[in-house]
Amino acid sequence: MTLKCFAFHSYKGGTGKTTLASNCAALMAKRGFKVALLDMDVYAPSLLAYFEKEPKRWLNDYLLGEAEIEDVMTPVTEIVQNYSKVHDPSSDVKGALWIGFCSAKKEEIYKIESGTSDNPKSQLRRFIILKQSLIRDYNLDYMIIDTSPGIRYWSLNALAVADTLLLTLKMGDIDIVGTKRLASEIYGSLTKYGTRSYLLFNRVAGYCVPSHLKPDAEEQMKEADTFTLADGGNGREADYTEETLAKETKLDVISAVPCYCDIQFSKKEFLTALRYPNHPFAKQMEQLINTMTAKM
Ligand SMILES: Nc1ncnc2c1ncn2[C@@H]1O[C@H](COP(=O)(O)OP(=O)(O)OP(=O)(O)O)[C@@H](O)[C@H]1O
Ligand SMILES: [Mg+2]
Repeated sequence: MTLKCFAFHSYKGGTGKTTLASNCAALMAKRGFKVALLDMDVYAPSLLAYFEKEPKRWLNDYLLGEAEIEDVMTPVTEIVQNYSKVHDPSSDVKGALWIGFCSAKKEEIYKIESGTSDNPKSQLRRFIILKQSLIRDYNLDYMIIDTSPGIRYWSLNALAVADTLLLTLKMGDIDIVGTKRLASEIYGSLTKYGTRSYLLFNRVAGYCVPSHLKPDAEEQMKEADTFTLADGGNGREADYTEETLAKETKLDVISAVPCYCDIQFSKKEFLTALRYPNHPFAKQMEQLINTMTAKM
């Protein structure tokens, strides 16, 4: 099987890229796939919150030519196994998961930023070599990349290396306008080189109405659902749906994941899909993986 590389990207921050990327990668390993998850959100890395394992060396060190791939790819299969055993002590994780963690230290982020490092081109070359080496030496089935939101040097590099882009967004006005812009300015040109892009809606429906709003809830929800698109002078009132955006961007929708209050308000990020395999979020992730592994 040839390696498939997915990148989770978005226009706006906080759309759920890291949550979805880490849960997907862990579930894929649980299913028996060999997976690498790379934290290319070099400006604000956060995978360590989900997989609490201090890496030997950071991805930053590799990109700067100061570490080798084997020092940077941290094996976390045991963490996936431990999560799984809570519910099913006999469960056996057949696949494997490695993570390339990025350092959140200020100096490391400065070093890796485009233009501030001595030789950004050689970092890009090393990033491309990383993918080739992972294919050759790790016998991987899937590579999952978590990216920074918006149009930034390392996000674009990640998008260029991936075969499939999962454009994660909430159905809000800023996300919609931004995703439309990215679709026409960035994703479109990558498509010419064979990259596939899909819309991945997150935190849709499942709208929880606080009890003090209940009597007027329906009216209030209607109001909250109608917004103006400030879209380069073409603003318009809209009951804008997921289908409308799919049509306008000519992108298919790969999934629409509801908003779950327990995930949203949890004080600590963790792998919900592994810890609570019967949670509806876990079922959503299973479905997403079915599509990712079957169709692409
Ligand atoms: N389907 C969901 N339901 C409820 N909460 C969610 C859902 N998906 C993600 N969240 C929560 O939303 C918050 C933002 O998610 P996350 O950090 O994954 O976004 P992100 O796109 O990676 O952000 P950034 O752009 O800052 O890297 C987190 O607290 C996460 O737990
Ligand atoms: Mg993130």
